[in-house]
Amino acid sequence: MPSSFDHAATTYDHDFTHTDLGRWLRGRVWERLTRLFPSGSFVLELGCGTGEDAVWLAQQGVRVLATDASPVMLEQTQAKAHAAGVEVETALLDLNALPAEFAYQFDGVYSNFGPLNCTRDWAGLARFLHPRLTPQARLGFGVMSPFCLWETLWHGVHLDFKTATRRWKRHTTATLPDGATFPVYYPSPRQLASALAPYFQQTAILGLGVFLPPSDSFGVIEKRPRLARRLMAFEQRWAARWPFRTWADHYWMELTWQPNIST
Ligand SMILES: C[S@@+](CC[C@H](N)C(=O)[O-])C[C@H]1O[C@@H](n2cnc3c(N)ncnc32)[C@H](O)[C@@H]1O
Repeated sequence: MPSSFDHAATTYDHDFTHTDLGRWLRGRVWERLTRLFPSGSFVLELGCGTGEDAVWLAQQGVRVLATDASPVMLEQTQAKAHAAGVEVETALLDLNALPAEFAYQFDGVYSNFGPLNCTRDWAGLARFLHPRLTPQARLGFGVMSPFCLWETLWHGVHLDFKTATRRWKRHTTATLPDGATFPVYYPSPRQLASALAPYFQQTAILGLGVFLPPSDSFGVIEKRPRLARRLMAFEQRWAARWPFRTWADHYWMELTWQPNIST
C-alpha cells in the first residue's frame, strides 16, 4: 500500500541526509549504535527511510532487517545497500498496524529521526517487540522532542509564535511537500519510557540538535561555517547533560530488555 512518505523518499537524502548538519547529527547516532550493536548481531530497524543507518551498520558487520511503512523508502534502502555492496534485508512494517505474525528473534532494535513520532501506541509497540528480542537486547530510539530550544527561540524572535510552540500540545498534523498530511505525536522522554515499561528500562538519554537548528532551518547556519563549528562543539559537550538533553529537536533514548514479563 502506498504511504504518505513515498513522495518524500526521492528527496529525503538531498533535503536532510546529505546536508552537513544531517551528516554530523547522524554521526552522533552512529557513535551510539556502535556501542549498542556489536558486529555479528541481528537488529531490527523501525522506519528505516532511505536506509542510511542500515547500510552503515551492515558495513560494520551487523545484520539488519530494515523496515518502513513506505515501499518507496524500502526500494531506496535496497538500492543504497546494493550500491554499497552490502546486504540489508527489508520488510514493510507499519507501526500503526503491527502484524501478529513476525517470526524473528533480534539482538536489538533501533529507530532514528522520528518514526516513533508517527504512532502513539508505544505500549503496543513494546508488547510487540518484547517477545521478539533476546534477553540481552538493547534498544535505541531517536524521537522528536516536545520542546526544541532552538525552534522556540528562533521562531519566537521572529514573532512566529504558532511555529515556536507547535510541539507543545504534543500532537500536530504534518504536511509533506506533496501536500499529504499525517498525525505527529511528541512524547516526552518520561512519557515514552513509561509507555515502554515494564518491558524495557531506560538506560541513557541525550539530545540531538539542542544548539543546532532543526532540519527545516539548517540553512540558517549552513551559510556560516564558523558558527556551525562552534555550535557543533557546544552540542558535543553539552547535549547529553541535564537540562539540555531533552531540549533538543530529537532526543536519543536507550533501553534494555527486562525479564520476567508475561506477554
Ligand atoms: C524522518 S524519516 C526517518 C528515516 C530514517 N530513520 C533516517 O534516519 O533517516 C521517518 C520515516 O518513518 C517512516 N514512517 C512514517 N510512519 C510510519 C509508520 N506508521 N510505520 C513505519 N514507518 C513509518 C517514514 O516512511 C520515513 O521513512
